[in-house]
Amino acid sequence: MGKRILLGVTGGIAAYKSAELVRELRRQGHEVQVVMTNGAHAFVQPLTFQALSGHPVRESLLEPEAEAGMGHIELAKWADLVLVAPASADVMAKLAGGLADDLLTTVCLATQVPIALAPAMNQAMWRNARTQRNRSLLAADPQLRLWGPQAGDQACGDTGPGRMLEPAVLAQEVAAMADQPLAGRRLVITAGPTREALDPVRYISNHSSGRMGFALAQAASEQGAEVTLVAGPVEQPTPGGVARIDVTSALEMKEAVDQAVSAGADWFIATAAVADYRPITVADQKMKKEPDADAPVVELEENPDILASVAARTEQRPLTIGFAAETRDVADYARDKLSRKGLDLIVANDVTTPGLGFNSDSNAVEVFWADGSERFEARPKRELARDLIRLFQAHQSNPPSQL
Ligand code: C5P
Repeated sequence: MGKRILLGVTGGIAAYKSAELVRELRRQGHEVQVVMTNGAHAFVQPLTFQALSGHPVRESLLEPEAEAGMGHIELAKWADLVLVAPASADVMAKLAGGLADDLLTTVCLATQVPIALAPAMNQAMWRNARTQRNRSLLAADPQLRLWGPQAGDQACGDTGPGRMLEPAVLAQEVAAMADQPLAGRRLVITAGPTREALDPVRYISNHSSGRMGFALAQAASEQGAEVTLVAGPVEQPTPGGVARIDVTSALEMKEAVDQAVSAGADWFIATAAVADYRPITVADQKMKKEPDADAPVVELEENPDILASVAARTEQRPLTIGFAAETRDVADYARDKLSRKGLDLIVANDVTTPGLGFNSDSNAVEVFWADGSERFEARPKRELARDLIRLFQAHQSNPPSQL
């Protein structure tokens, strides 16, 4: 289905590839308007984009003539998607800071539709801590998505990360968004920790931030899925379009999941770090420290395994995907869990790597299924979420694993 795409072109040698991108997008049936920044002029002539898009190119904010036609706010409202390709380090910094000092950044601030960035820059500029800080900020913004960059040879002679994704790949990303490949699919996702009460003020829990599950919920919802997100106590904003059910304990999480899966689900994704045990008794009143008394002993009982119970369903069994946070022998434990819990897929990560996994923005994982595996090197959880969804989709038509 044809969409209205506002293509922002910023200064960089990759700008010449954006001409091909306009052609690809138009070939897919989209309408394209181009906004160029001052820096982009040094690389490509506006006339190129005008000829390829069939629309005059917009270049500056508050040009009386252009504003009399489609003003910058109307332009922001016109678009179904804003795609900035190439996105320079400068435009990433401006967007991360919420600046609006030219037409493109103003439109990006005024629009409510998704904004996709295809970064392109020298590898040292990409690796620079300031660019990486901006990248993390942008990756955490629910309106934004980052497509690329890829690593390889660069125009300046360097080799490394910073190449813009090829126009055909960017056009595929647009197609995935426009086609809504998960339309009609119902997903149930668990996320975050659970809290197991000891008394009215104390509990047993863990450090899970819920970010991976929330990122998956967002990516799936953006691709058209109907998502029910069963969330333990976390400080995460609910992604647009996602139905969130807040729970506290493992028993509450199980009840919410049972209900949601019984209502019909195509996929069940368990990212939650569910407490394995809960205190057998929960004190009515806050437990007091008694002088000279022995330290209290807390007796625990096992919580139900929510994931295994969904995988064991004989009716309405969704494609069932687990997560495994391991500190050693990741592949062995993951494969064992895959078969013991009867899962279709398991996503394993080594939580001992600093800056990755638990309570962090990035993650590197290896996914296992009955007769295969695939490794995903470190990347922001939002990017990883989209990559994982693509993999799960490839498995949805396969029969459940015969383990
Ligand atoms: O066995 P382990 O806790 O490592 O398994 C992790 C996977 O199982 C995760 O997908 C987690 O969400 C799920 N799980 C669950 N219910 C439990 C324990 C774990 O759904 N009680």
